[in-house]
Amino acid sequence: MKKLLHIIATPRGEESRTLQVSGKFLDTFKEKHADWVVEELDLTREVLPSLTVKRVDGKYVLLGGKDLFGGLKEAWEDIILHIERFTSADAYLISTPMWNFSIPYTLKQYIDIIVQPKYLFRYTAGGVEGLVKNKKMIVIASRGGDYNSGTMRAFDFQEPYLRAVFGFVGITDIAFVIAQPMDMGPDMQKEKILLAQKQAQELAAQF
Ligand SMILES: Cc1cc2nc3c(=O)[nH]c(=O)nc-3n(C[C@H](O)[C@H](O)[C@H](O)COP(=O)(O)O)c2cc1C
Repeated sequence: MKKLLHIIATPRGEESRTLQVSGKFLDTFKEKHADWVVEELDLTREVLPSLTVKRVDGKYVLLGGKDLFGGLKEAWEDIILHIERFTSADAYLISTPMWNFSIPYTLKQYIDIIVQPKYLFRYTAGGVEGLVKNKKMIVIASRGGDYNSGTMRAFDFQEPYLRAVFGFVGITDIAFVIAQPMDMGPDMQKEKILLAQKQAQELAAQF
């Protein structure tokens, strides 16, 4: 069976606008793709490993082209588990709100944990090679404001960052569904959630 890893970066559970949209994506996805299993990774509940000096030292060993050894290998056990969980998926769904023009710190911490040399990318004579190949990603996001036009567009560090970092590791087939603005009145919020839900369902049907 193929696996869709659903990475959740909002702590708001049933109150979450983002999850209202990804919920619709998943309903259609499960209906149309019975041969897939959906695994949830809620970053707001998971105790993610922190990047201590020892763990960071391990990163530099790998960047130097060497393998982890002794205490560094031990310190990296939980990082490797997260990397394996990520790479064992065939596709990804990320549910994330915008926080301070970018992503919540839990998602950033997760990215800092899994984006590692030798595992997700490597340096070759021709430059960087992303090692996560032929995998799709859907990002479902919501934002208080609207970053679609004018001066606000320059404040969107969420979509460009996610495209850059996951593109760096080889995931270039990334589709975004964005519900915005969410915090400019209840009518607008309702309308934009419905619109994003429709887009998410279409995307799931075509997946
Ligand atoms: C800590 C925090 C920071 C936020 N920063 C922004 C921001 O920079 N821009 C924005 O448009 N909305 C911002 N918001 C609003 C959320 O993006 C918005 O309410 C979103 O719909 C919340 O999604 P959720 O209900 O799935 O958690 C912020 C909300 C929180 C809690």
